[in-house]
Amino acid sequence: MIRAELKRPRGTQDILPPESRRVAKLRRVAFDVAERYGFEPIETPIFEQTPVFTRVGETTDIVQHERYRFVDAGGVDLTLRPEGTAAVARAFVENGLAQAPQPVRLAYWGPMFRRERPQAGRYRQHTQFGAELYGSGDPSADAEVILLATAVVEAAGLSRPEVRINSIGCDVCRPGYREALVEYYRSREGELCADCQARLEKNPLRLLDCKIDVAIRQAAPDLADYWCADCRDHIGGVIDRVARAGRAIGRDAHLVRGLDYYTRTVFEVGHPSLGPAVALFGGGRYDGLTASLDGPAVPAVGFGIGIERILSATAGRFDADPVERVAVLHVPGFATEAFLLAEEIRRAGWPAESDVLGRSLRAQLKDAARRARYGLIVGGREWEAGQVVVRDLSSGVQEAVARDDVGAYLAERRQRPVEPV
Ligand code: HAM
Repeated sequence: MIRAELKRPRGTQDILPPESRRVAKLRRVAFDVAERYGFEPIETPIFEQTPVFTRVGETTDIVQHERYRFVDAGGVDLTLRPEGTAAVARAFVENGLAQAPQPVRLAYWGPMFRRERPQAGRYRQHTQFGAELYGSGDPSADAEVILLATAVVEAAGLSRPEVRINSIGCDVCRPGYREALVEYYRSREGELCADCQARLEKNPLRLLDCKIDVAIRQAAPDLADYWCADCRDHIGGVIDRVARAGRAIGRDAHLVRGLDYYTRTVFEVGHPSLGPAVALFGGGRYDGLTASLDGPAVPAVGFGIGIERILSATAGRFDADPVERVAVLHVPGFATEAFLLAEEIRRAGWPAESDVLGRSLRAQLKDAARRARYGLIVGGREWEAGQVVVRDLSSGVQEAVARDDVGAYLAERRQRPVEPV
C-alpha cells in the first residue's frame, strides 16, 4: 500500500488508458470544431502573478477562498489559474492583440485549479476547453460562441444541449436592479441562509442563484424589468440567432454565474446526469476585463467547457477510436529482424509493436490476439524466401507476403480483413 503522503492530492485524478484516449479524442474534436468557427489555439502559463486574478474577481469565491496561491523563492506572488479567461485577457493585452485586426478568436485547453470541497463532478484540478471572442459587442458574437460550445458538446455525443441564458445588465441598468434586489432581500433578512446574509453585503446578484433560499427568490424583482433598451435588444438578438440556428435556448431569470467580470450575457448548459448545481459549460460577455488589466477596453465574450463532466456525461457513448495495431512476432533467433520490421511499419504509418520481453512465439501470439489486428511472423521458411507471414488475428486467416510489399499490403487492407488465399 502506498503511504498516504505519497498519494495524489484530494480532488485530483489519474487518467489511465483507455479513458485517457477518450480525453485525447475529445481534445482533437474540440479544436477541430473550433477551427470551423475560426478560433485559433492559444496557450498561456498555468500560473500567473496573483493580481491577474484578484483584479478581476474581488468577490469571486474561486479567486478569494479557493485559490492555490504561493510565493516563490524569488518572492513573487503567484496563483495557479482557477480559470482561463483572465489569463487569456492578460495575454491579449500584454501581446498587443488589441491593436491587431479584430475580432480575435482564441481557443484553449488545459488544467484549472480550485481548492473546492471535492464532491461529484467537482475537482481541485479540472480541465477546460474554452474559447474567447474579442473585439465585438454585437449579439452575433455571443450567439457564435454559444453555437460553438453547443457544437463541441454535440460532437462529443450529447444531443440537444439546452442553453440557459440571462442578462445581468450593464453599468447603466444594473445599479438600479441591485438596489431593488437589496431592498427586497433586506425586507426578508431574518429568513436568509448564512451565505445569503453575506451575499447581501458583498455580491447581491448572487442571491439569485442560492440553492437554499429558493422560495424567497420567487418573489424577488426580475432583472428583465430593469434592463435598459440596449441590454434588452442585446439578449433578444442573442436568443433569436441561436434559436434560428436550431439550438435550444431559453431565458433563466435566476442565472447570474459566479464570476465578477460578466456584463450582459451569461449562459450555462447542464445535463440530467450531473444534477442541477453542476454545469457542462458556462460563459458570458465581459466587456470590462481588458481595461481592468490596464489594457484598452475591448468587448469580449466566451465560455469554458468542463472536460471531466463531458466525459462522465458521455460514458459509453463517446469512445476512443479502436487502434488497428500490427504485432510483429518472431520465431526464436529473429528478435532483431522483428524489431526493425516494426519500425519500418511505423514509418509506413501503422501502429506497430514487437516483443520486448523475450517471449516464445506462442506467448507473443496470445498477447497479440488481445491487442492487435494483424500479426506478422518473422523467421522460418517464408522469411528465408524473402516473405513475411501476415495473420489476421481475429479470423486466423494468414498468407505470405513479399517482405518489401508489407507496408503497401497493410495500407490496402486498413479496416478490411485479409482475404483467404
Ligand atoms: P466556470 O463556470 O467557472 O467558468 O467554469 C466553466 C466550466 O468548467 C463549468 O461549467 C464546469 O463544467 C467546469 N468546472 C468548473 N469548476 C470545476 C470543478 N471544480 N471541477 C470540474 N469541473 C469544473 C469559467 O471558468 C469561465 N472562465 C468561463 C468563461 C470563458 N467565461 C467567459 N469566457
